[in-house]
Amino acid sequence: MVLKRFSLSREHIIGWLKEDNDSLLKEIFDWADEVRRENVGNDVHLRGLIEISNVCRCDCLYCGLRKSNSDLKRYVMTEDEILDCTDKARQFGYGTVVLQSGESPVFTAEHIASIIRKIKAATQLAVTLSLGERDEQEYKLWKDAGADRYLLRHETSDLNLLKIIRPTSVYENRLEALRVLKRIGFEAGSGIMIGIPGQSYATVADDILQFAGLDLDMIGIGPYIPHPKTPLASMQSQIGNEQVPATELMTLKAVALTRIMCPQANIPATTALATINKESGREGALQGGANIVMPNLTPVKYRSLYEIYPAKACIDEASDQCAMCIKARILSIGRTIGKGPGGRTKCPS
Ligand code: 5AD
Ligand code: SF4
Ligand code: FES
Repeated sequence: MVLKRFSLSREHIIGWLKEDNDSLLKEIFDWADEVRRENVGNDVHLRGLIEISNVCRCDCLYCGLRKSNSDLKRYVMTEDEILDCTDKARQFGYGTVVLQSGESPVFTAEHIASIIRKIKAATQLAVTLSLGERDEQEYKLWKDAGADRYLLRHETSDLNLLKIIRPTSVYENRLEALRVLKRIGFEAGSGIMIGIPGQSYATVADDILQFAGLDLDMIGIGPYIPHPKTPLASMQSQIGNEQVPATELMTLKAVALTRIMCPQANIPATTALATINKESGREGALQGGANIVMPNLTPVKYRSLYEIYPAKACIDEASDQCAMCIKARILSIGRTIGKGPGGRTKCPS
């Protein structure tokens, strides 16, 4: 397997993000597709997403689950419901389940550990956690219980912007958490939103350079989608020369540049991208650098309550429909469905 590492300068990345010539852009998408094929192959790995609770103690200005959104009915899935979902993941042939929730102590660390142990005893599934910032002791407990990966998006590398949009988060803590997670032995993932008001091209370039610098195993990139029940939705976006637009094209450019800079990472075609282009958003990302899809396994009765942004893709489809739909989409673009956990390809050097 060829493991090439390319290094684009900050100026080059900014230049590509601003590029709007279709034939030049095709070059960068084809390049990313080639780097993806050479480094992580044609398999698209499926990670079944289980949104175990929408309770959150944070107040991120962009997110519908923020604690100040009192219009949202909150839920916590029972352990039996979660294990039913993981059994479905096994039946559908997925290699991984992702347990995701708002940041909150509604599940104690021990309860999560016990769920991980049960999943591991009953299936061969890899377990990814996406439960927000927790203590090192808790991460360790979950690693010992058998969890494999942890997702913690840093959202933006612009400290001033982060302070505004994520008032409860300390940027350095989040970066440190990613380092701690790697040290403990997790595959660690982060990610950003494209087009948050106040985001500049230089910031997105810095984000991409930071992904490479942190040597992340997973990198999720989706467009920002305003949620009417959040403060950011009514804030005047500074659209001008330097404001990055929250478009499909800009997200695809960021995905492609990330693949070129992080050849071996696992990069999903995100649900947010599928939300702004339901016909072919995921396919576009898969053909320009991405190699992962996260079909939803959450019971339909909870789906609409995990409303981080409105009109989310797959809000009404049952998990078996998503399984069929995703597999057909992958095969339709000439790709294969990954088997097994599909962990990160490590460079042999
Ligand atoms: N638009 C797009 N993505 C969002 N997220 C949260 N709110 C939004 C939104 N309005 C993303 C964040 C978070 C992940 C779970 O969802 O990046 O980390
Ligand atoms: Fe909570 Fe995450 Fe939403 Fe922030 S982005 S409000 S931490 S669920
Ligand atoms: Fe859910 Fe297509 S993936 S309906």
